[in-house]
Amino acid sequence: MASGTGPRSSAARRRHWESIYRTQGEESLSWHQEEPTLSFRLITGVSTKSDRVVDIGGGSSPLAERLRRAGYRRTVVLDISPSALGRNRTRAGGPATGIRYRTGDLLALGSLGRFDLWHDRAVFHFLTSAEDRKRYVDLAARTLPVGGHAIVATFSQNGPERCSGLPVQRYDARGLAREFGPRFAVRTTRGERHRTPWNAVQPFSYFVLERVRAGSARDGSRATPRPPGPAPSIGRGAGRGAAAGSEGGRRPIGTGSA
Ligand SMILES: C[S@@+](CC[C@H](N)C(=O)[O-])C[C@H]1O[C@@H](n2cnc3c(N)ncnc32)[C@H](O)[C@@H]1O
Repeated sequence: MASGTGPRSSAARRRHWESIYRTQGEESLSWHQEEPTLSFRLITGVSTKSDRVVDIGGGSSPLAERLRRAGYRRTVVLDISPSALGRNRTRAGGPATGIRYRTGDLLALGSLGRFDLWHDRAVFHFLTSAEDRKRYVDLAARTLPVGGHAIVATFSQNGPERCSGLPVQRYDARGLAREFGPRFAVRTTRGERHRTPWNAVQPFSYFVLERVRAGSARDGSRATPRPPGPAPSIGRGAGRGAAAGSEGGRRPIGTGSA
């Protein structure tokens, strides 16, 4: 279980993330990936180029740009931090055709519109209150049609307990299926040994969920969720880098408070 809670109001959340993106370069953000390889592979595995994709809390990630280069033209990046989105836009080379940017707090949004694919890397795991997690899952369920997919990446159960100075909740497939409830079925689980920009290891789990009709035979309401796919792959150099259970490294990240 996560100990402590993150910022409770929208304004406090925005202040937290803005202060990080205003003061820290990519090289100081533990979560940063120059190549979002696994996200890209999972997205292209369950979607087509004409699909509407939303990157939830996309920050300054190069993912939207990689998708645009691959032919996706209907991607929206949502983030609470305007500075993060400003960086993302600059990285994509200015107002890039096929990528739209939306500033907003996903916990305060009534609606996002309709998307075929929801991608979230390292946002859901910050939700340490059951009420916030319910709000998140309700929004995802309203956003995706039956048959649509959500790809959610969180710290694994042996991953760090905090990130950017905030407590996180870590997941395996069973725990995630419990949170997402009967409107989603976990179809695939993949592990990633993420390396921070300073080369510390952070174990992530990526879950591919399908939006299903609650109560249908194919849904995720089974008492025992379908077992995860192949065991998490262990990246090259496993065992090197910082131990999990901390923020995963010797360098402070984000606000710098562990
Ligand atoms: C750990 S970062 C991950 C960024 C990106 N997904 C990646 O993998 O590089 C978390 C991101 O979620 C955004 N975020 C946090 N809480 C949010 C919220 N309630 N609504 C929208 N975005 C949020 C932050 O601004 C930040 O960009």
